Amino acid sequence: MKIYFAPLEGITNYIFRNAYNGLYGNIDKYFAPFISPSEKCPITPRERKDLIPEHNSGLYLVPQLLTCRSNHFIEGAQELKAMGYNEINLNLGCPSGTVCAKGKGAGFLPNTLELERFLDDIYSYSESDGMKISLKTRLGYFNHDEFYDLVDIFNKYPVHELIVHPRIRSDFYKGEPRKEYFAYALEHCKCPLVYNGNIYSVKDHEDMNGTFGTVLDPIMLGRGLIADPSLAGKLKDAMSETDLAKFRKFHDTLYHEYQKIMSPDINVIYKMRELWSYWQLQFEGNERDIKKLLKAKKYSEYEEVVYRILKSA
Ligand SMILES: Cc1cc2nc3c(=O)[nH]c(=O)nc-3n(C[C@H](O)[C@H](O)[C@H](O)COP(=O)(O)O)c2cc1C
Repeated sequence: MKIYFAPLEGITNYIFRNAYNGLYGNIDKYFAPFISPSEKCPITPRERKDLIPEHNSGLYLVPQLLTCRSNHFIEGAQELKAMGYNEINLNLGCPSGTVCAKGKGAGFLPNTLELERFLDDIYSYSESDGMKISLKTRLGYFNHDEFYDLVDIFNKYPVHELIVHPRIRSDFYKGEPRKEYFAYALEHCKCPLVYNGNIYSVKDHEDMNGTFGTVLDPIMLGRGLIADPSLAGKLKDAMSETDLAKFRKFHDTLYHEYQKIMSPDINVIYKMRELWSYWQLQFEGNERDIKKLLKAKKYSEYEEVVYRILKSA
C-alpha cells in the first residue's frame, strides 16, 4: 500500500520531513505545503529553502502550487523543473477566507469556466515540459453536488493523480467526510484516485475499506500521522505498537533543529506546542501536564513537563 504525507502548512516543513523520514519513514510521497506564485516572484527565497533538493534528500517530495492564474502556475512549475522536480500538485482545496476571496484553493472550484481554461493551459504546459500534475480537491465550494461537474471537468485532462478530500469549503476540516462522494469518484474518475480525510488509526482505514468495498490505495494522511507518527508503519504492518523511544528521538530532533533556525525561544515553543496539540491524543491520562505544556513560555517550563510526560507514558 502507498501512503502519502499530506501537506500541512506551518508543520510539514523540511525540518519536520527530514526528522520524520529518518525515524519513521514508510512514506511514498511527501507533499510540501503550498506556495503561492505571484507576478513578481514565482518562488520566494524562504519557499526555495524548504524545497531545494539538498534539504530533501532521500525522500520523494511533491511541491504544491496555489494559484488561479495559469501563467503564475507555469512560471512556478518551470522554476521547480529547474530545481529537478518532475511532479507537482495544484491546491484546489484550501478553505481559508483570504485564499478563497482571491479565487484560489477551494475558492477556484465554483468558477468552472475559468477552471477549465486554467487546466487547458497547465496541462498543455505539462505535456510540453514533461511535468506530471496532480490535483488536490474538495467536493465543491458551496455545495457537495458541485462535485459531479468537477469530475466531468477533471476527466478531460491527463491528471496524474486526483487527491480527494471529501468535504466542501464550509466544512473546513470538521465533521465526517462525505464518503458517498468519494464512492462516486471511484466509479466515475478516469485518473488514479487518492483518498484523504480523517484516517487516524488502522481501524479507520479498515472501516473506510469496508465502506468503499475496496482497499483504498494510495491514501493520503495528515493529522492522523502528526498525532501518531508510527501510523504509516502500522498501516504497512511494519510496526505493531507506538515506540516511545523513537517518538522521544523524533521530538528531540524537531526541538533541537528548530532551535537552530528559529528565534526568539518563544517561536520554537509555539512550533512545539502546535505539534503537541496533535500528539496529545497519544498521551491519555496526562491531561494536566499537557494543559501546562500548551501554555509553556520558556524552555525550562516546556522541558520539565515534556520529559515528565515522556517518562510516564
Ligand atoms: C494546519 C493545516 C495546514 C494545512 N495546509 C495545507 C496545505 O498547505 N496544502 C493542502 O493542500 N492542504 C493543507 N491542509 C489540508 C491537509 O493536507 C489535509 O487535506 C487535511 O488535513 C485532511 O486530511 P487529514 O484528515 O488526514 O488530516 C492543511 C490542514 C491543516 C490542518
